[in-house]
Amino acid sequence: MSNNDRYLTFALGKGRLANKTLSLLEQIGITCEEMKDKDSRKLIFVNEEQKLRFFLAKGPDVPTYVEYGVADIGVVGKDTILEEQRRAYEVLDLGFGKCRMCVCGPASAKDLLQHHEMIRVASKYPNIAKDYFYNKKFQTVDIIKLNGSVELGPIVGLSDVIVDIVETGSTLRENGLEVLEEVCPLSARMIVNQVSMKLEAERIRKLICDLKSVI
Ligand code: PRP
Repeated sequence: MSNNDRYLTFALGKGRLANKTLSLLEQIGITCEEMKDKDSRKLIFVNEEQKLRFFLAKGPDVPTYVEYGVADIGVVGKDTILEEQRRAYEVLDLGFGKCRMCVCGPASAKDLLQHHEMIRVASKYPNIAKDYFYNKKFQTVDIIKLNGSVELGPIVGLSDVIVDIVETGSTLRENGLEVLEEVCPLSARMIVNQVSMKLEAERIRKLICDLKSVI
């Protein structure tokens, strides 16, 4: 198979991220009409003329597909990149999906953070929480993995604080919690398989360059 016949494969995180990625790609002339059908349950889409393939995966699986090289390129949140710790090059900040990873809790938990107490931290992102408390704050904590609605943690008494994504802050406000510390800013990123970056250097570099011009 000559290099020109090779499909460039994109793994996109299902949902909002995929939709925003598609409209960004559309601005640089990359389209995939059949993907726009909202009711479709199809997971793989091909653009024959442009030799492109797209598949829709669960967000946290995107870095896995890219590390193993079944996708050349992935679009995923920085939160997922940090949490999954897969091998891939992070090549571009796409500028959408902007939010922050924060330590949140009731105002009364502020003291616990300042005095480096042994506290309980609930999070959907145990690796990010661990890295923040152990390697940046040098605070030993008990991390409890949850799968969503993490704000419940401090409310029902499972944890003292949470490490979670804050976008508008309304989930926190409506549940009587607040941002206590910021861990890092987040947004959608493009990642590339390390071997693809060499094999498909030209196509991928052009793609990055084109995207930069519209971001
Ligand atoms: C995310 C995050 C917060 C919320 C933040 O949850 O975990 O709960 O959004 O957004 P806000 O600051 O604009 O209120 P998501 O909706 O993904 O659901 P989840 O709780 O099941 O993870």
